[in-house]
Amino acid sequence: MLEKTLSIIKPDAVKAGYSGKIIAMLEENGFVIKAMKKINLTKKQAEGFYIVHKDRPFYDSLTTFMSSGSIIVMVLEKENAIADYRELMGATDPSCAKAGTIRVLYGKNIEENAVHGSDSKESTDFEIPYFFSALEIL
Ligand code: PPS
Repeated sequence: MLEKTLSIIKPDAVKAGYSGKIIAMLEENGFVIKAMKKINLTKKQAEGFYIVHKDRPFYDSLTTFMSSGSIIVMVLEKENAIADYRELMGATDPSCAKAGTIRVLYGKNIEENAVHGSDSKESTDFEIPYFFSALEIL
């Protein structure tokens, strides 16, 4: 069954000029881009997106980073999209991620780790409408 997930190319990867290479990897791995836009988050908007992590020690640093430059947000679709995209991204810390994953290729460290992907169906139900209206998803 087709499934949707939310993907973000984070400010570090956008600034470094890796967006095209990351998008190519997504398509080569069977993900269909159903919606895409480049935006700048305010600190408050980043805090709202990561509200689930509000009590974690890295919340302030993560939301400052995510509002430090442009990001590219996408809705991706394929069978088993949520788990398959997490696999393609690799572990949160690029130094622990598997060879060939996006975070090994383009991530710098546990904060500047190139990409975000929803971790569950429950997360996509919050994350996709955070950025896209139904009319913007093809
Ligand atoms: S967990 O426990 O699975 O929820 O945590 P995890 O998925 O590994 O991380 C959630 C998001 O927090 C970011 N993160 C950090 N940012 C800055 N500093 C530190 N130390 C740190 N640890 C985790 C991590 O990149 C995840 O961001 P997203 O955007 O969800 O990938």
